[in-house]
Amino acid sequence: MAFKERVFSGVQPTGNLHLGNYLGAITKFVALQDTYDCIYCVVDLHAITVWQDPPDLKRTTREVTAAFIASGIDPKKQIIFNQSQVAEHAELAWVFNCVARLGWLNRMTQFKEKAGKDRENVSVGLYAYPNLMAADILVYRATHVPVGEDQKQHLELSRDIAQKFNVDFATSITSNGYGEVFFPLPEPIIQGPATRVMSLRDGSKKMSKSEPSDYSRINLTDDADTIAQKIRKAKTDPEALPSEEEGLKPRPEAENLVGIYAALQGTDKASVLREFGGSQFSVFKSALVDLSVAKLGPIGSEMKKLVQDPVYIDSILADGSARASVIAGETMKAVKDIVGFVRR
Ligand code: TYM
Repeated sequence: MAFKERVFSGVQPTGNLHLGNYLGAITKFVALQDTYDCIYCVVDLHAITVWQDPPDLKRTTREVTAAFIASGIDPKKQIIFNQSQVAEHAELAWVFNCVARLGWLNRMTQFKEKAGKDRENVSVGLYAYPNLMAADILVYRATHVPVGEDQKQHLELSRDIAQKFNVDFATSITSNGYGEVFFPLPEPIIQGPATRVMSLRDGSKKMSKSEPSDYSRINLTDDADTIAQKIRKAKTDPEALPSEEEGLKPRPEAENLVGIYAALQGTDKASVLREFGGSQFSVFKSALVDLSVAKLGPIGSEMKKLVQDPVYIDSILADGSARASVIAGETMKAVKDIVGFVRR
């Protein structure tokens, strides 16, 4: 069955947005809006799987919204909203809690990493989180999902849930007049030179909001001096840059910086190495500082301006939520028919 093509993705409002979020996800969101109808969500229900200070949660929700707009997503053409304003996400997630198998969730590496040794003490929400993520996507019957590499396994789980729902309820889907297959199997879009941006301090660790050292990441709101300092201090090795990609393989820090440069420039690692092969890091880092400041500076300033006007931000979220609710409501009605719930 052919589904209407639609893009969905989400970003958690926890901590500072960083270069990994920007290059792995947000730049893709911007590019896809030329070809698709897109729905971009600030996933506050996901955020509370670990403790969030309530006033901070409001602030970071508005900040992520500001980042979407400042990066170039058009809130009139596309839908930008926060998850908790559309109750169907949580409603469909419950149905999916009953579709997904415990064994599937037990395989989720992100849960294992986040829960660590303290597994008995983490929230049930943190464990069930991938089911909510599947609901986020499928409540819009979205077909394409731009994400960074770290979300790949969750996307595979979303496909498994969609598939099992379609098979378990096949007879009901047909008899209720919803065609042969109800949910599309959403396709991840994980492309380009920066699908996994690494820490500036350690090329074997992902750049992340939760890493204690602020020097491990570039935040979208960092000013030019801070960006320059962080890049100058970024870990490297004593060799000059290679001329071929092959030469980056055993050098994770070099590979990371070259990937960041390529993604910011909108090119690939091979082209960057054609330009900088044989250069010392001092030369390459200066060029990277200039490029980063040129690309990120205007976004950071626009974000800072936008968050000064929470009334405007909240109006974008309210409008987006109203439009999202219409689509989600349609899906949920159908799901109720298919599952066998009596409804109004
Ligand atoms: P979150 O909030 O951790 O990250 C938001 C997006 O940024 C990407 N990302 C990275 N990409 C490259 N390098 C990095 N170091 C890096 N760090 C983060 C993430 O892959 C993500 O695309 N579970 C999701 C949010 C979510 C979602 C969804 C995504 C909830 N529901 C439905 C897609 C569809 C998350 O925690 O992303």
